[in-house]
Amino acid sequence: MERVIVLGVLASGSGTNLQAILDAIAAGSLDARVAVVISNVADAGALARARAAGVEALVIDHKGFADRRAFDAAVVEALRMRGVELVVLAGFMRVVTDVLLGAFPWGVVNIHPALLPAFPGVHAQAQALRHGVRVAGCTVHFVDGGTDTGPIIAQTAVPVLEDDDEASLTARILAKEHALLPQVLQWIAEGRVEVDPSVAGRARVVVRGPRLAG
Ligand code: GRF
Repeated sequence: MERVIVLGVLASGSGTNLQAILDAIAAGSLDARVAVVISNVADAGALARARAAGVEALVIDHKGFADRRAFDAAVVEALRMRGVELVVLAGFMRVVTDVLLGAFPWGVVNIHPALLPAFPGVHAQAQALRHGVRVAGCTVHFVDGGTDTGPIIAQTAVPVLEDDDEASLTARILAKEHALLPQVLQWIAEGRVEVDPSVAGRARVVVRGPRLAG
């Protein structure tokens, strides 16, 4: 068996990506353990999903802190206390700072509902529809100091259909997110993902071995 990687998941919303991680662990396709789920939103669905799976659910309300860095320091302390090795942003609606990124160098991954570098930031699916792109998708990437700019690990594409609205496109992308995120986490658990910092001043990810995803 591969070694079990200890995850800390940060989420602000319904937590369907968290659920995909928990389901993959339960199914034996992801060699990981979620040590804690942290949310800045007290009634986030992600917290209920964590509790239902017997995972610690922690609320850290950003409004209780002077600035983003102070908030991140509290998050880092909570993650460290629980032995977290890899931080997963799964619908976490806060910009993270150098405090979190410095504590987990190339150890923070994010899932974004667009084929980056197109359409970073919020409302990515609406941006895609507005631009009339024919292909959309999702990206899992390491987090760096920018907004959805870090080195890309993997992507899945979906078609944009003529009668799509934001809800239908979001649902089609989300279904792919639920396969892609656990797959990438498993690659990381297997030690197959490396960040090559040397390419043209911009980090790039190398995934060794077979890359067939669902
Ligand atoms: C997903 O679309 C993810 O890509 C984005 O936020 C959404 C979170 O959904 N970052 P959920 O909370 O995992 O259901």
